[in-house]
Amino acid sequence: MKHVFAAALLCAAVAAPSFAQEIKIGYALAEDSHYGAGAKAFEASLTESLGDQFSFRHFPSSGLGGEREVLEGLQLGTVEMTIASDGTLTNFVPEVGVLGIPFLLRDKDHARKVLDGEIGQEMLAKFDPAGLHALAWGEQGFRHITSNRGAVEAPADLDGLKIRTMENPVHIEAFRALGAAPTPMAWPEVIGALEQGAIDGQENPLSVIVSAKLNEVQKYLTLDGHVYSSTIILVSPALWNGLDDAQKAAFDKAAKDAVVAMRAYVDDVDASGVASMKDAGMAVNELTPEQKAAFREALAGPYQQYEAQFGKELMDRIQAVE
Ligand code: PAF
Repeated sequence: MKHVFAAALLCAAVAAPSFAQEIKIGYALAEDSHYGAGAKAFEASLTESLGDQFSFRHFPSSGLGGEREVLEGLQLGTVEMTIASDGTLTNFVPEVGVLGIPFLLRDKDHARKVLDGEIGQEMLAKFDPAGLHALAWGEQGFRHITSNRGAVEAPADLDGLKIRTMENPVHIEAFRALGAAPTPMAWPEVIGALEQGAIDGQENPLSVIVSAKLNEVQKYLTLDGHVYSSTIILVSPALWNGLDDAQKAAFDKAAKDAVVAMRAYVDDVDASGVASMKDAGMAVNELTPEQKAAFREALAGPYQQYEAQFGKELMDRIQAVE
């Protein structure tokens, strides 16, 4: 009788459907953006490593709300995963703000080395005490200014410009020093505010300008590359803490694969985006090195403040990365 019972139990266990654990992943941009590319590469990699242990539900285009709300969802355990910009993440781990200092990171190669190296890894570790688990640094590219008021060639062209910024105090301070009227706003409100003329412009990398079709609401694009924009791939502590070591290793690998996909997207759009925005009717100008120097000079005041806030040592360490 005992044997029959044990055999029945075994049959039931074998026959029982194994349910995949669902991962809701929310991000601000469309599926055919660098965020979508990263999210899909993550899913493909994890599925390759772990089979059907996890299933994914994508919520692109701010389908779960703005970045701040989604990150709060991760903290609460109501959302499992996101890819979010450093601008928003500064409000969760203030040290990340140092990366938002204009002209601090020289080019993508420099930025990638900083983020993949000691400094970037030290910053990722600061997310666990903030109630989030950071897996890896993704990428958006260098931010540029778009506007409906005219081309920007000198700081004077920003005078009084109502420019939407992320909710990032470092950026707000910089645009104020340049004479603009920075208007911090969550991303889901931006297109509507541009359409209605509540703001004149915004700033984002080509990856966002192209994938969000900002040409439909903006006439001018100034390639000034004032700041490098990173993102982080994060999971909720509720999900992370429930994983075993093999699963954690697969998540880490999937994040690395997602970073490769995001960087490839950014490289492609940096190469082709200007032509496509011109074809779509935008007037595009690129700052010369001399014009850029005028913007750097105008930021001398905020730079002193940034040194006081983040420490000159950290800023020097970042600049010293070759
Ligand atoms: O400008 C922003 O808020 C961010 O760059 C965006 C578009 C939400 C992507 O993270």
